[in-house]
Amino acid sequence: MSKQRVAVIGCGSIAKYRHLLEYDAHPEVEIVAVCDIVPERAEDVAEQYQAKAYTDYQTLLKEVDLDAVSVCLPNYLHAPVSIAALEAGCHVLCEKPMATSYEEAQAMIRAAERSGKKLMIGHNQRFVASHQKAKELIASGAVGKIYSFRTAFGHGGPEGWSADGKSSWFFKKEQAFIGAMGDLGVHKADLIRYLLDEEFTDVSAIVATNAKDFATVDDNAVCLLKSESGIIGTLTASWAYKAGEDNATVIYGEKAVLRLEDDPDYSLIVNYTDGATVKYELGKIQSNEAGGQTTSHVINHFIDAIQLDQQPSITGEEGLRSLQIILAALESSETGKHVKIAQ
Ligand SMILES: NC(=O)c1ccc[n+]([C@@H]2O[C@H](COP(=O)([O-])OP(=O)(O)OC[C@H]3O[C@@H](n4cnc5c(N)ncnc54)[C@H](O)[C@@H]3O)[C@@H](O)[C@H]2O)c1
Repeated sequence: MSKQRVAVIGCGSIAKYRHLLEYDAHPEVEIVAVCDIVPERAEDVAEQYQAKAYTDYQTLLKEVDLDAVSVCLPNYLHAPVSIAALEAGCHVLCEKPMATSYEEAQAMIRAAERSGKKLMIGHNQRFVASHQKAKELIASGAVGKIYSFRTAFGHGGPEGWSADGKSSWFFKKEQAFIGAMGDLGVHKADLIRYLLDEEFTDVSAIVATNAKDFATVDDNAVCLLKSESGIIGTLTASWAYKAGEDNATVIYGEKAVLRLEDDPDYSLIVNYTDGATVKYELGKIQSNEAGGQTTSHVINHFIDAIQLDQQPSITGEEGLRSLQIILAALESSETGKHVKIAQ
């Protein structure tokens, strides 16, 4: 089989630390073009991977013969660039949050349907070993009926991560549309849907900006969620956990409590109702902290989906359902009302 010809659009941190590295490590992928609006960023990466550098994604899509594209851009560009790439005949792996509105996400899904190409959203938390094991335990019935959960994702903020530091698009409403809730909360919205295999019907939230006075987006959010079967829980997303990261999820069931990424040594601890405890060492979750970037498995899954001509597990529809939870949280916070998500 000939190699997949791939372009990466946006050469900031997620492109450098994950997409480019993982495409480069894939034996059946060739990185043929890269694009960044900052010419030196595109040129540096192009030199490193022997690819062609572009500063305009439309020119890249017109000039280069491609199989697939990664969209690693600020949130407001996800929909227009993904749609342009799909219309140019490329499979698309788009970073999260999928889009800035329900309508944009739907337009991306329709573009994928029209083009017959794959659209995958980069919700990498689904590939974390402890999360996969917990899903397996829940699906097997070992946890019994699930009653409740809490899930959190917080760190000190993207200042130390984004290619543009404190002046990053991450903090600007017109480019990000949403802050910690879109950066981190959407990961946990997607994770909890994945773990429980349920959709969420009700959201109440307080989405605040109380840690970064220079940001025009939220940096601290607490949400209450209810699933279609009546499971209730909290989802928190924060750029105000300055002293360290929290990436933990706890699931409270009839037969066991599952503690995911809540212990420094054991990525999954299961406390059974009968008193037994099982501790799993399943490898580290990706984190922004030093040495925290481990393989995401996202790129391998995307390439497999292309080569096997299968839908990726995280389709546009999946990305949209996770996006709907954070959109509902914003609406709840703005209106002071409990929001129902239409199924
Ligand atoms: N899956 C994950 O865990 C994860 C982690 C971090 C970021 N992300 C997502 O990845 C996306 C990119 O984030 P990042 O952390 O790499 O940000 P970043 O600020 O480090 O990089 C963004 C890059 O896009 C470039 N850019 C901006 N406008 C452009 C344009 N019109 N054309 C070409 N390039 C342009 C910037 O110059 C910059 O180099 C975001 O959607 C973010 O939410 C996902």
